[in-house]
Amino acid sequence: MSTRSTVILGTGSYAPERILSNDDLAHMVDTSDEWIRTRTGIRERRIAAPDQAASDLAVPAARRALEDAGLTPADIDLLVVATVTPDTPMPACACFVQQKLGVPTHSACFDLNAACSGFLYALDTACALLGSGRYRKALVIGVEKLSSVVDWQDRTTCVLFGDGAGAVVVGCSDEPGRGLLGTCLGSDGSSTELLCIPRGGSRAPSTCESIAARDHCIRMKGKEVFKLAVRGMDEAARDILEQHAVRADQISLVIPHQANLRIIEAISEYLELPMERFYVNVERFGNTSAASIPLALDEARRAGRIRPGDLVLLVAFGAGLTYGSALIRW
Ligand code: ACO
Repeated sequence: MSTRSTVILGTGSYAPERILSNDDLAHMVDTSDEWIRTRTGIRERRIAAPDQAASDLAVPAARRALEDAGLTPADIDLLVVATVTPDTPMPACACFVQQKLGVPTHSACFDLNAACSGFLYALDTACALLGSGRYRKALVIGVEKLSSVVDWQDRTTCVLFGDGAGAVVVGCSDEPGRGLLGTCLGSDGSSTELLCIPRGGSRAPSTCESIAARDHCIRMKGKEVFKLAVRGMDEAARDILEQHAVRADQISLVIPHQANLRIIEAISEYLELPMERFYVNVERFGNTSAASIPLALDEARRAGRIRPGDLVLLVAFGAGLTYGSALIRW
């Protein structure tokens, strides 16, 4: 096995222009700004234009990450897109991104679906492939157009989600102790029904009736997911800290999946790490699933919240139920 370390060379993000506020939602379903803010911490979310597909959100995020890394699309030979809302079921969103960005044809391009944990799964996959020595530079993107699968008549879910994209460029380094120190990924397939899109796949293709019933949209048992999210993220964070003999107070910044402020506050309490060490932007973007961590990571970096040498912990939880954590020495 190779001992080369993998480092993040650049980050970028993009959020569509249109802002959908809680007050806007209160005109669409029986809800209020007060309910949404106190239950979730969300004030507004971004909504993609009708003619913007996931790849159209991914491309500007990727361009910014490449620019930040001082690289061009021609340098990329591995492109991994984490998403549950690809442009089309086939081909992969990564192929659309490749074409729009101008990533060379000899590159490996594919999508990966681990829902809200998708970016961590994609990062781990890309780092393992880079570590094998078979690829040189990877573009790892988390992108979602969740507005295309939200049931806009279901107040229990439509207030939670938003659209966006985040990207990182990953390369190898001979500098020991820097970069991705490790990941812990996991999944519990016994609770797939708690958070899912029930129809539109091979088990139950969409019919006129199922579309009328909006069964091609997100369904979630929020209370159950909330409890499992707190437990899953707490365990994933503890596991990675234990594996690397790192104490929670040695972490400079935690970038958690941005699903709900109360979930993040619970993790902060369980880890006994103050909220100042958590990067939070859920109030402006809602839950953007696979895009949430790379979008927050890019904002945190550009805001000067991450400095060279910092230990950064990424932690996520999502449908599957999947979960994961990653420890990075910046
Ligand atoms: N506006 C007003 N009332 C609402 C709304 C709304 N938008 N949504 C639900 N309610 C009502 C419910 O109908 C219920 O009314 P009832 O008591 O008359 O039946 C009441 O509010 C309480 O509903 P609960 O579901 O118990 O509310 P809770 O405090 O659990 O909050 C929430 C709901 C925000 C969905 C919470 O459970 C949650 O955040 N769960 C986790 C969701 C999540 O993070 N999912 C994603 C994780 S993984 C991933 O990112 C894909």
